[in-house]
Amino acid sequence: MRPFTIAVAGKGGTGKTTLAALIIECLRRQGPVLAVDADPNCNLGEALGLEVKRTIGQLRDDVLERIADLPPGVPKDQILELGLHECLVEDEGVDLLTMGHGEGPRCYCMVNHVLRRVIDTLRGNYRYVVLDNEAGMEHLSRRTTQDVDALLVVAEPNPVSLRAAARIKEIAEELGLRVRSKFLVLNRLQGDLPRGLEGPIRELGLPLLGTVPYDPEVEGLSTAGRPLRELPPGSPASLAVEGILKKLRLGKEG
Ligand SMILES: Nc1ncnc2c1ncn2[C@@H]1O[C@H](COP(=O)(O)OP(=O)(O)O)[C@@H](O)[C@H]1O
Ligand SMILES: [Mg+2]
Repeated sequence: MRPFTIAVAGKGGTGKTTLAALIIECLRRQGPVLAVDADPNCNLGEALGLEVKRTIGQLRDDVLERIADLPPGVPKDQILELGLHECLVEDEGVDLLTMGHGEGPRCYCMVNHVLRRVIDTLRGNYRYVVLDNEAGMEHLSRRTTQDVDALLVVAEPNPVSLRAAARIKEIAEELGLRVRSKFLVLNRLQGDLPRGLEGPIRELGLPLLGTVPYDPEVEGLSTAGRPLRELPPGSPASLAVEGILKKLRLGKEG
């Protein structure tokens, strides 16, 4: 069965990694999740408290080094598949794949081609895939299976951040991603939604899926380098994310 794929996008610092990690913490209780850190800053592992040993970027470099010395006939798929499993950090209900740095000046086409196929096969083992993207969504554009069920564009509740969200929405459209539905998520909300924002939100043309309040405990954990699963039960940010997942019909009852 095809997994339900959620991609989180937005400008740097809006809270993509935080939202992705909170979503993963919620979904991992319901079915196996493949978490993909597709931001070269690579901090989804830290937010989940998982130690990344090797990134896909490193694997790609290693394989390219080794391929030159291989006798003909040695299947590259197998080497990549083995390598991929070294990149996969396994934990209860969640496996994490970290993409790492982008491509260097060398030609990675062949390796990328095989890698995409291997990752696409891997995806079939999960009920959910959650992608934490870089602002430009580069990795999404390079995927063979570009299907995303829900693209969540994260912004902060102010007009400047909403304009940045509009740009992210355009990028997704320009990339020609196959996205079933796109939504806006407002993060770090203090108090009620400012009234003046209703107009700019309408203009953006993305339905507001939900808001996540500013939660000092979230910030505290991130400053201390602690994983978000250490949030106390029922913390405002986790409750908000549970609500968001329910709206996507991925709640506990859904
Ligand atoms: N709802 C929130 N409440 C409090 N702090 C938050 C919240 N969301 C994000 N943060 C903090 O804001 C900073 C940036 O968030 P992060 O998720 O890393 O953004 P991004 O991945 O978009 O760059 C982090 O220090 C994080 O802990
Ligand atoms: Mg991030």
